[in-house]
Amino acid sequence: MALRQIRVDGDDILRKKCKEVKVVNDRIITLIDDMLETMYDANGVGLAAPQVGILKRIVVIDVEYSEEEDSSIIMINPEIISRDGEQTGDEGCLSLPGLVAEVTRPNHVVCRYYNEEMEEMEIEGEGLLARAICHEVDHLDGVLYKDVADGPLRSVEYQSEDEE
Ligand code: NI
Repeated sequence: MALRQIRVDGDDILRKKCKEVKVVNDRIITLIDDMLETMYDANGVGLAAPQVGILKRIVVIDVEYSEEEDSSIIMINPEIISRDGEQTGDEGCLSLPGLVAEVTRPNHVVCRYYNEEMEEMEIEGEGLLARAICHEVDHLDGVLYKDVADGPLRSVEYQSEDEE
């Protein structure tokens, strides 16, 4: 496994539409392992393949990281098939370091995807997981959260200084 460089906003690759994965070969497995390592290293809760410069429909998510248990979710060719409810809250992205903005998302989603064995799977997400799924699937179509935000981007550091 290896860390990959995270592309930041302004990089054209983040705006491209990703291609479906047809076959999970060794290169894809290595990519997924690297994406997980890169996400954990950066303390993120999700990462999409274009964020490491690969235009494939793969995302990794972990909204409840723990040392003891593997809670990572690996989704190949994910597709949100149902959304309901609404939540509004701050969202960030490893490709927009130090920034957040308020985004309204569905509070509940159902997402169909393929696992590493290319078996069809389905996951239901609520709250933060629903938000993470929407955010990461958007990345696969070149959409960043700032495009769908309710308000302007704010600096995280500035905000915490403000609160003191
Ligand atoms: Ni992101």
